[in-house]
Amino acid sequence: MLLFFRCQNIIPKFTLGKEMKKIVVFTGAGMSAESGINTFRDSGGLWEQHKIEDVATPEAFRRDPDLVLNFYNQRRKQVLAAVPNKAHLAIAQLEKKFDVHVITQNIDDLHERAGSSKVLHLHGEILKSRSTVDPHLIYNIDGSDLQVGQRCERGSQLRPHIVWFGEAVPAMEEAEFITSESDIFLIIGTSLAVYPAANLVAFAKTHVPKYLVDPNAKPIPYIANLKIINEKAGAGIPVLVKKLLNDEQ
Ligand code: APR
Repeated sequence: MLLFFRCQNIIPKFTLGKEMKKIVVFTGAGMSAESGINTFRDSGGLWEQHKIEDVATPEAFRRDPDLVLNFYNQRRKQVLAAVPNKAHLAIAQLEKKFDVHVITQNIDDLHERAGSSKVLHLHGEILKSRSTVDPHLIYNIDGSDLQVGQRCERGSQLRPHIVWFGEAVPAMEEAEFITSESDIFLIIGTSLAVYPAANLVAFAKTHVPKYLVDPNAKPIPYIANLKIINEKAGAGIPVLVKKLLNDEQ
């Protein structure tokens, strides 16, 4: 599977006979905040209302599966009620002139619904469930709820297709490879507090222009060629996308 993704990445995309530059867009919860989906660490964020160890670890799921499934059922309802915002739509527009790879920590499908064609989810997808015995058995969730008693084809309980705290991030290696090939790297709406995802930018080459759009972002001295735009995604991203499209002849 990884080989297939790597081949997709190695094959250059062309427009008008010219090889397209590769833009990697790395997003966090701030990307979807203006669509009405809670962030985690802002004031009033999800981790102020719920303890991580109660709802977002494998131990929590073993201890109280109903509580954990209910927490994610609420998240799923919120996602199903949300629509892509101006920033999601602008990122999709970049595909007019660039080979765009979205790498998101978000579990919603708003990038896909906005029209982005290559989206890699580092922390899973809320609209899917998976088997607790075979991680390759992944299913779309029909409706908004996943309940205790719903089983995979091998008879084991289904769990949300989410990467919990303490679990490996299976898509990380592919994300690092995609990032290492980037010509431009955008970071949008993430506190860069959760590893290994927060370290992704380290895989972008030093000379690559990097932009960080987040109203609360602080300077990050160890990242070369980083321009910080202290704005909300809905305001900052459409302007940045317009500039990148204009600059690319
Ligand atoms: N536009 C852009 N950025 C915003 C906006 C907005 N409208 N609103 C808030 N932000 C920024 C905040 O300033 C903050 O830096 O979004 C960031 C959200 O940070 P977190 O809540 O920590 O979310 P994130 O970085 O995505 O969390 C990473 O932590 O709990 C886990 O698995 C979860 O994927 C998540 C990971």
